[in-house]
Amino acid sequence: ATKSELPIDPLRIVAKEMKHLTGNIRQLLGSGHPSLDRVAKYYTQAEGKHVRPLIVLLMSRATSLCPKAPELPPSHTTATIDSSISPLGILADTNPSHSEFSSEPESPESDVLPSQRRLAEITELIHTASLLHDDVIDHSVSRRGSPSANYEFGNKMAVLAGDFLLGRASVALARLRNAEVVELVATVIANLVEGEFMQLKNTARDERNPKWSEDILTYYLQKTYLKTASLISKSCRAAALLGRADATTVDAAYSYGKNLGLAFQLVDDMLDYTKSGKDLGKPTGADLELGLATAPLLFAWKTTPDLGILVGRKFGQEGDVQRARELVYKSDGIEQTRVLAEDYSQQAIAALQTFPDSEAKDGLIEMAMNTLKRQK
Ligand code: FPP
Ligand code: MG
Ligand code: MG
Repeated sequence: ATKSELPIDPLRIVAKEMKHLTGNIRQLLGSGHPSLDRVAKYYTQAEGKHVRPLIVLLMSRATSLCPKAPELPPSHTTATIDSSISPLGILADTNPSHSEFSSEPESPESDVLPSQRRLAEITELIHTASLLHDDVIDHSVSRRGSPSANYEFGNKMAVLAGDFLLGRASVALARLRNAEVVELVATVIANLVEGEFMQLKNTARDERNPKWSEDILTYYLQKTYLKTASLISKSCRAAALLGRADATTVDAAYSYGKNLGLAFQLVDDMLDYTKSGKDLGKPTGADLELGLATAPLLFAWKTTPDLGILVGRKFGQEGDVQRARELVYKSDGIEQTRVLAEDYSQQAIAALQTFPDSEAKDGLIEMAMNTLKRQK
């Protein structure tokens, strides 16, 4: 087979950078209080998919080959990770030092900066914090094939552990010494909460018998951006910024992340209808039970006006969930969701058009295609 026919494994492309991810995250989460330490590290035990760090690292490599931004005055340059000023020794950095790293006589493509590795860890920390809180809000009892943190330790501990993760993520973020990156990632944290609030409301106005309109889809997509795509898109942007990429590249990185994030969540909402809880390692069919109308239902509603009344009462009456599910299965809602996800995935790939060919770029393309194929 020619090179282009070989299967591409995105994980292999940044395996070196991914190797210490979980260890470094656990180090960032060290606490002198044994039970806080335990809850905080709980979701790092089961192997997550690490989708976000993987994307950040691939983006870091892929953009290292892109044009650089004009040099800024020295006061604006990004500090490399400095573990020497760690007050409690908890942020000790096990990454190779920058100088060690840049002396490696490898292809320039292998240059993922320590700050970009740290960004990958921060991204996973924020994601994990949001899962700790999400499982409380959703009354979820399982995550990654094990009991959820709230189930195991109770709501109070789970919420506090999530806050602790955000605190430690913020410390690590500040240490990157890049104000634009701090602003981006801080915005993500606010966006996650805004997305979750939009979701609690389902539609902009609370109505008893809402009518379908395009606004409903717009609201859903805005919510989906805030809840899922914001973290992926802004961390892609931050990765390009840390690598000193030029403005065109920074925007392209953002666009890739945004479209991939939207595709990713659309597939997530689809799997909630098509997969069993055993397959996913977390409860499925959960969205309707929680009163949530996601893409498959919204598309079904367009051609099945009767769904409006069920949406209006958040599937709260006896038999509503079952009835809604049947109407979704009878409609082309799941298929339309897949088509829309495919469209976003294509747009993600198109955003990479200006990037020079590289293994990392192929990895990003593969990630966009895998998003559609994923089964969990
Ligand atoms: C998973 O969605 C949840 C999110 C993507 C974001 C949740 C955000 C919050 C709870 C706001 C608080 C935020 C921070 C930063 C602590 P899901 O419930 O659809 O997915 P699931 O099936 O994996 O549970
Ligand atoms: Mg949930
Ligand atoms: Mg949720």
